[in-house]
Amino acid sequence: MSNVTSIVGAQWGDEGKGRIVDYLAVNSDLVIRFQGGDNAGHTVINDKGKFALHIIPSGIFNPETMNIVGAGTVVNFETMAEELESITAKGVEVNNLFVDVRAHLIMPYHRALDGAQEGAKSSKMQIGTTKRGIGPAYSDKATRSGIRAADLLDFDRLRNRIEMALPQKNRELAYFGLPEYTVDELMELCAKWKDRFGHMIIDSLPIVRQAYEENRKILLEGQLGVMRDLDWGIYPYTTSSSPTSGGAAIGSGLGPRRIDEVIGVTKVYSTSVGGGPFMTELTDETAEKLRAIGGEYGATTGRPRRCGWFDAVAADYSCWINGFTALALTKLDVLDTFEKIKVCTAYRVNGEVITYLPETAQQEIAEPIYEEFDGWMAPTTEARKWEDLPPKAQAYCKRLGELVGCPIKYISVGPERDQIIIL
Ligand code: GDP
Ligand code: IMO
Ligand code: MG
Repeated sequence: MSNVTSIVGAQWGDEGKGRIVDYLAVNSDLVIRFQGGDNAGHTVINDKGKFALHIIPSGIFNPETMNIVGAGTVVNFETMAEELESITAKGVEVNNLFVDVRAHLIMPYHRALDGAQEGAKSSKMQIGTTKRGIGPAYSDKATRSGIRAADLLDFDRLRNRIEMALPQKNRELAYFGLPEYTVDELMELCAKWKDRFGHMIIDSLPIVRQAYEENRKILLEGQLGVMRDLDWGIYPYTTSSSPTSGGAAIGSGLGPRRIDEVIGVTKVYSTSVGGGPFMTELTDETAEKLRAIGGEYGATTGRPRRCGWFDAVAADYSCWINGFTALALTKLDVLDTFEKIKVCTAYRVNGEVITYLPETAQQEIAEPIYEEFDGWMAPTTEARKWEDLPPKAQAYCKRLGELVGCPIKYISVGPERDQIIIL
C-alpha cells in the first residue's frame, strides 16, 4: 500500500467504500473523511459487529488509527453524538476521532430547509436528497455565511456569526412556513456540542503534514461517487461537494501530487439512490434479484436502491475524472447465480452510437448498448485468491478492467473484512 491512498466511489455511491476503507485502515495511521456529511451510509462488518457509519470515518475501529473528519466536510454534531453512542454501545472504544476546525456545521435550519426545498419541487425535479441538510450547509459555505467547527471554540465569534446568518435563514424558513430559531437557542445547542466535542476539534493540518513527512500511511475516504459530483456528476441531481480524488486533495489538505494511489471502488453491477438519469437501470425481475441478493437498500435512508448492469462507459469516465491507479471491484458474489450478465459499453442517443458519457440531458435519453457474458453459476464467497475464482468470473473481472482501462487490485466477494482477493 502506498503512503497516501485515496478511496473514491466510481459510480453513483454505495460502492462499498466503507468496507474497503475498513479493510485498508488496519494498516493505516490516518484516515481522513474529506467531504460530505452524515448523508453517507458506509457499512462496515468486522470483528466488532456491523455498523452503518454516516460521518465517522471507517478507520474508527482501529484504536491506533487517527480518524479525522476533514476540512472539506459538513458536520452535524447532533447525529455524530448518536452515531458515537451506537458504536460505543457495541464495545468500541473511541479515543481516536477528531474534527478539523475548518469543517462547517450543519445547523438545525439546514436540515429543515433541505426537506422544504425538496418538497417544493415537482417529483421529476426532486434530487431525492438524504434530507440531512447537506445542500443548504454547503450553500452557506459558498456564500461565506457558514458556521465552522472553529467557531465553537470562540463563543463571541460564534454569536457574531449566528447573529449575522440567522435573519436570512429565518426568512427562508418563514417562506416555507417552518418554525424560526432564536440566537439564544442556537447558542445553547452549540454550547452542548462544545461540551461533547470541543476537545476533538483540532487544526489537523500539522498532524497530516507530520504524518506525510514521516512516511506514514494515510487513507482519504470519499463519500458518494463521481456520478453525484457537484461539477462532473448528473447535475442538478448531485450532492453539493466533490467526492472525486480532486476533492480528496482539497478536503484533506494534501496537494494532488502527494496522493500516490487513487482506488476507484465499484460494484460489478450498478445502483443509484435518488433522482436523475441512470442509463442501465432495470425495472424487471433482474432488478428485483440484484436488489434482494445485494441487499440494495440505502444505509442512511432505507430507500430501495435502483439497480442495473455495470455501466462501463460511466466507469471509464470516472477513471478519467479521478485518475484511478487501481480498481476495487465489490459484490462479485452477488452475481453468482445469474445465468447471463450484461455490461453497457456504449449508448444510443438520438439514433447515434456514442462511447463517451454525455451531459445530463443527453443521459436522460441515452439507451444502453450491452455486451453479454455467461454467468459462472458457482459461489465465490470463499475465494481468497484469483485462482479460486471460476474462470468465467475471472473473465468477467478482466473485461471490466479492460473496459475501464485500469488494473484491478482488490475483488470483494462478501461484506466481511476478510472476504477479499488481493491481486
Ligand atoms: P459505501 O457507501 O460505498 O460504503 O457502500 P454501502 O455500505 O452503502 O453499500 C455497500 C453494501 O454492500 C453494504 O451493505 C456492504 O456491507 C455490502 N458489501 C460490500 N462489499 C460486498 C461484497 O463484496 N459482497 C456483498 N455481498 N456485499 C458487500
Ligand atoms: P454513500 O457515501 C448513495 C444521493 C441522494 C441524492 C443526492 C444528493 O453511502 O455512497 P444529498 O443528501 O447529498 O444532498 O443528496 O445524492 N446520495 C447518496 N446516494 N449513497 C450516498 O452516500 C449518498 N449521499 C447522497 O440520494 O440523490
Ligand atoms: Mg452508502
